[in-house]
Formats: sequence, structure tokens, C-alpha cells
Amino acid sequence: MFGKRSETDSSANGRAITPVQATASSPAMDELVPDVVAEAPVLAKTEPVANLEEKVVEESVRTSEYYSVKTTVFNALIDTIDLAQLSQVEKSVARDEIRDIVTEILSIKNVIMSISEQEELLEDICNDVLGYGPLEPLLARDDIADIMINGAHTSYIEVEGKMLKAGIQFADNAQLMNICQRIVSQVGRRVDESSPICDARLPDGSRVNVIAPPLSIDGPCLTIRKFKKDKLTLAQLENFGSITPEGRTILEIIGRVRCNVVISGGTGSGKTTLLNCMTASIDLDERIITCEDSAELQLQQPHTVRLETRPPNLEGEGEITMRDLVKNCLRMRPERIIVGEVRGPEAFDLLQAMNTGHDGSMGTLHANSPREAISRLESMIMMGGFSLPSRTIREMIVGSVDVIVQASRMRDGSRKITHITEVIGMEGDVPTLQDLFVYEINGEGEDGKIIGQHRSTGIARPKFWERAQYFNEQHRLAKALADAETGTGFGNNNEEASFV
Ligand SMILES: Nc1ncnc2c1ncn2[C@@H]1O[C@H](COP(=O)(O)OP(=O)(O)O)[C@@H](O)[C@H]1O
Ligand SMILES: [Mg+2]
Repeated sequence: MFGKRSETDSSANGRAITPVQATASSPAMDELVPDVVAEAPVLAKTEPVANLEEKVVEESVRTSEYYSVKTTVFNALIDTIDLAQLSQVEKSVARDEIRDIVTEILSIKNVIMSISEQEELLEDICNDVLGYGPLEPLLARDDIADIMINGAHTSYIEVEGKMLKAGIQFADNAQLMNICQRIVSQVGRRVDESSPICDARLPDGSRVNVIAPPLSIDGPCLTIRKFKKDKLTLAQLENFGSITPEGRTILEIIGRVRCNVVISGGTGSGKTTLLNCMTASIDLDERIITCEDSAELQLQQPHTVRLETRPPNLEGEGEITMRDLVKNCLRMRPERIIVGEVRGPEAFDLLQAMNTGHDGSMGTLHANSPREAISRLESMIMMGGFSLPSRTIREMIVGSVDVIVQASRMRDGSRKITHITEVIGMEGDVPTLQDLFVYEINGEGEDGKIIGQHRSTGIARPKFWERAQYFNEQHRLAKALADAETGTGFGNNNEEASFV
């Protein structure tokens, strides 16, 4: 079926293939099966193969013998099959084809293996040829947040906030490097000794970083932030206790009434998740343009354009920065601009956009408090080489940003929205902030869980009140603020989610 198969007829050298294999459904197989019945002993039984996908390889320690058999079979397979052609057919067809050939090779080479070993080998080889080798079982799991491979023999996963050993192994660093190369080449990039750092994305949207020797000393390091198909929603954040029902309503209103929002937080504090949640309240008819380093956001609105930056190529050319994207965005008649993460001089362009009729724009940045978010914005603009006096920059920030939402990963592993803060003006040279909603920590329970509560600060008329009126949201807003103050919401009883 795949070109070279017919040659293998003769390479079988008259050695036999068991009749059992004739039951395999591939037409190519039928023509291969000779009349002779052979001795190949262990293969005399076969097993349905349907549930292969569900098999999760946990802690399977493989012997060097296993790897040597695998290498033999693998090499024979590569000789037999036309990989280029194989990559063009559907995965399930290709899988069946490989399955047939591997079974045949095992029989020809008289390899003694139990059925389960054979299944494992088949799965392994299919993963190597068609996918990302030992990574496949981890990629198939939806409960994993991060995969961290530190060289061929050490790997970890993060599941529900906890770091666990992954129990997978690569044959050696060369195989790992090969897989890294395969991943990054799919997005037109390269990773090798001369360019040992690379960011990429898997077809499912997962974010990938590779750092290879000589920079990483003990073999290539591969880090994958798995793409969550079902992104968290504000309702889920509420269930987890990250926010109260009133806080959630306030965030929904802020998102809907076109406040300019900066989401601030540390690494892994849930900034991107929160940004994604807040975009859910944007009206369906708005034209939104997203700019990201690696596309993560999943907007529900039909009129969305997604843009992604590009790193320089091997010759150091062709880089498209976030700033290029945000500037270009302004020429695309956006109604809202969403910047995944503001890290540098694009801060200036985003603020300008916010200031010039693109209200409702949003972005995240790395800071530990709303006030720090303001100074981060200021220093990003200063470092971008704009020779503006510091006061002008601050005025620009105050004139552009309406709300700062702070996300935090607490020391017990839970994630909370700790501040919803308005930027209201300047007092002298200092921007004035006004907290609407805060999370107060009261202590720590015996189980190490943080005890605290969300509460409103008693502001009844936030600065965006008029906007809320314009969108006819003022009653909902007033009610949420009042309820938050009196603490009628169930969220105030410190419900802590089991999810950390
Ligand atoms: N409120 C939350 N409760 C529980 N898990 C969360 C919460 N917010 C985010 N997460 C999870 O935390 C991880 C990191 O979130 P992410 O939004 O990518 O962080 P950041 O953008 O700040 O680096 C993701 O796996 C995400 O699903
Ligand atoms: Mg992020």
C-alpha cells in the first residue's frame, strides 16, 4: 500500500507468517500472507486492538532488551515503509498499516513476546513514527497542566496543582532531541546546537519551550503547557472560590461595558485564564483582534482576528514583535484589542489604542499588585526608548487604564482574584487607585489552607458607573456591590475549592 511494501514480499525470504495475521483487515496484508503456515510461536494468539487509545502508560520500566528489540523492529519498519507517503494518510489508517507491518516483522524475526508486550511495542512504535513518541500518552491526558522533560530519563507532570514523576522514558537524548525537533519543525522553526532555544506550539495549541545542549547541561529540556480544551469559565472560578458571585458579576460588567482592563499577576497565577474568562462577556457583534506570543486565548465571538508574533529565523531576520502586531492592529479597524501578555514597548501602543477609541481593550502583565502593575507599565515604556517625562507616561497610563484585576497564586496552591481596582486619577505625580473588591487573608488553617475572604470596600459608585449606565448594567452593578459589602454571597464563607 505504501510503495515499498511489495519489495518486502521477497525480503521475507520465504520465511513464514502466521495465518492469524490474515485476519488483519488491511488489504495489503492479504496479498502478503503466503499459504505456508509457520512456526512463529508466541504470535499464535491475537487480541482485539480497539482499546489501544485508552491505554495510559504509567510507570513502565523498560529493559535494555526491550529497547534493542524495538530498535531492530523499528529499523526494519523504516526499510519497509515509505514514511513520506505514510504521513499523508489519516492517522488511524497509518496506524493500522504500521500495526500490520510490525506484526509481520516480529513474526519474520521470530521475536518471542507476550501479547501485552507486543501491544506495548506496537503502541510505542506507532507513537514514534506518527507522533511524539513517549510523550503521546501524556499528551492524550486531559488532566495534565504541564509536562516537564529534563533530559531523556527524568520527566515530571503537573496534575491538579501537584508535581508528579511522569514515569515515561526516552531511549536516549538523541531520541528526545529528535522529538523536540519534530515538534518545532511543524511551526517552521529549528532547534539544534547553533540555536538551542526555541518556542513552538503543538497542533492542539499547547505551548512548547525547548532548550537544548550545550545550554541545558543534562540533555534537552522540553516544557509543555498543555492546552486546556475546556478553558475555565468565571462560573468555575467562582466554584473554586477564586472569586465570589458578586465579584464575578462585577468582572462580567467590567468586561461588557468596555472598560480598559489590565490583568496583573505572577507566572501561573491565572492571568491568561482570567483574560479568557473576561472576554466571554464581550458582545457578539464586536470586532476583536488578539495579539499573542503563542495563541492561547479562545474567544467565543465570531468576529475575532487572531495574530501571533514570530521569532527571528536562523539568520536572525524576519522577527515580528508584539509591538509590530499591536501597531498593525490599529490599521485593522478593531473595536477591541486584546494583548495576551504585555512585556515591552508594545505597552505604549496598547495604551494609545485604549486612549483612542478602542475602549474595552485588555492585556495581562507580570506584577504582584495593582500599584506595581502601574509602575511596570511605566518602566516598560521608559525602557522602550520613548523619551517622555515620567509624569507624562503616568498621565497616559491613568488616562487609558480603567481597571486592574489582580490574580494571585496563594502559598497553598489555590488561585484567587485578590483585587479589582480602579485607576481614578493623579494626585500630584502619583496615580490614585481605588480598590472595589479585595481578598483579605485572615490566617492559615491546620491543613495549610489559606483562610480569608473576598469583600467589597464599600464603594457604591465606581468610576465606570456611567459606562455601566450606558450599557444598562447599573442595577446589576449596584446590587453586586451592595451584596458584596453585606456579605450575602455564599462566597464570603471561605468556600475553598478542592482544586488547587
Ligand atoms: N482560578 C483558578 N483556579 C484553579 N486553576 C486555575 C485558576 N486560574 C488558572 N488556573 C490554572 O492555572 C494554570 C495557569 O494558568 P494561566 O492562566 O496560564 O496562568 P498565567 O497566564 O498567569 O501564567 C492553568 O493550568 C489554569 O488552568
Ligand atoms: Mg499567561
